[in-house]
Amino acid sequence: MYNYAQLGQEQIEYVAVAAVEELPAGERLFVQIDQQPLIVFNIGGQYFAIGDVCSHDGNILDDAPLEGWEVVCPRHGAHFDIRTGKVMALPAVEDIPAFPVRVVDGQIEVGMPAES
Ligand code: FES
Repeated sequence: MYNYAQLGQEQIEYVAVAAVEELPAGERLFVQIDQQPLIVFNIGGQYFAIGDVCSHDGNILDDAPLEGWEVVCPRHGAHFDIRTGKVMALPAVEDIPAFPVRVVDGQIEVGMPAES
């Protein structure tokens, strides 16, 4: 499972990544948690986090343009839904990780799968 946003709250550990003022609507933030590079998006006040890697050939998605809810890998054009990590267009065939995001006390927090 790549869509960690579907995990139960007891399976998630939230990590603060930034204050809300640091990520205005329409912007993206690049963070690393436990060796995992992530992109956190603010789309009209809703936050989403995905793994910063294309599942096709490992390209980073830092500057990848958005088309609606889909990020487009600049290298060969694969599309991924930033809400779920689901692959939406070839040449990628595997989903990328998507993580839950919440705001607590003005801090943006990304949920990572808890160590079992
Ligand atoms: S590396 Fe992203 S589509 Fe090929």
